[in-house]
Amino acid sequence: MSSVLDLARPDILALQPYAHAAWDPSLERLHANEMPWRAQGDNSAAGLNRYPEPQPHDLVERMASLYDVPLARVLVGRGSDEAIDLLVRAFCRAGLDGVVITPPTFGFYKVAARVQGAGVIEVPLDRETFALDLPAVLEAGRRARIVFLCSPNNPTGTVYSRETIEAIAQFAKDHDLWLVSDEVYWTHAKGTHISPLSVPGMAERTLVINSVSKSHGMTGWRVGWMRGPAWLIEKMNHFNLIATYGLPDFVSHAAAQALDNDWGVEEIAQRYAARRELFRRAFDGSNGVIIRGSKGGMYAMLDVRAVDSDGERFAFALLDAEGVAVMPGESFGHAAAGHIRISLVQDDAVLADAIARIKRFVAARALAA
Ligand SMILES: Cc1ncc(COP(=O)(O)O)c(C=O)c1O
Repeated sequence: MSSVLDLARPDILALQPYAHAAWDPSLERLHANEMPWRAQGDNSAAGLNRYPEPQPHDLVERMASLYDVPLARVLVGRGSDEAIDLLVRAFCRAGLDGVVITPPTFGFYKVAARVQGAGVIEVPLDRETFALDLPAVLEAGRRARIVFLCSPNNPTGTVYSRETIEAIAQFAKDHDLWLVSDEVYWTHAKGTHISPLSVPGMAERTLVINSVSKSHGMTGWRVGWMRGPAWLIEKMNHFNLIATYGLPDFVSHAAAQALDNDWGVEEIAQRYAARRELFRRAFDGSNGVIIRGSKGGMYAMLDVRAVDSDGERFAFALLDAEGVAVMPGESFGHAAAGHIRISLVQDDAVLADAIARIKRFVAARALAA
């Protein structure tokens, strides 16, 4: 057995699994504590009065086929947020263990760790290039249970190169580390996104978390998954049961259909690529303001330091002057100070108008400086 197993909480490994009642709808269901009749207004095909299949077979099958792995290596959950929470809980003992994050990055890693009472070791990205500080990540990784990697990264849009991923993977193998690879924007950087799973030997020490939220535009359906070694997926399954007890049938059915047919994937990826390009061309360095990172994902990171060193001050002033709401880089960590994150989630016409307003605001600020 891999010594990576030693990183999981011993009490979790020893836990008596929680067994769910058999869900097979053909049974005479006299064993389950569920309603035999539909609630008023429940016009769904199968009825939502019964508990769903805890791990919906059809959906797990679709997810497993994405990676060409057995079903036992995939766990369905409610978005990748749930996966992050479950992983931190499974690996970190409160007050004793910690995780590595690389801000500016997705804020939920830190929140999940804090809720669990776990430590958070922050290894900021390079302030100028948003590149990983590889030696520092590797050093911090030795003191942690989990290293979170996010590529394409939110908010920077950085897509880590094969060399970077291979270096981290080699280190993980040398030092028995767990990588949690957050790949929710994987389709938004087609051709350049590299998963640690692609490095030989990494399947046993990588947990990929993913969802249909960004790739298929199904954010509100709350469907995600975890792909990892079978022994760990089995343990996480017990956790998942306790946390959520499955997805509503119509939700897993819709997600299976979407995965089967790749609904929307290409179009969504192309739209965001075009929008990133629109912003890159619009902010070409005039008045010193420029888009940085933003090679994948659904965001544009605007470096506004030439006109304001404080992204938060800039964002609030922009809101007051032009009615454009953006996220200050500071809310993702110090390495993104003096930036604003623009979500490219409005129609092209709205984005074009926002560009005009931001440019007008930047010009006014440059004049005033
Ligand atoms: C990098 C990253 N990971 C995970 C999530 C959570 O997504 P979901 O729970 O919808 O799968 C988000 C949401 O914005 C994100 O940006």
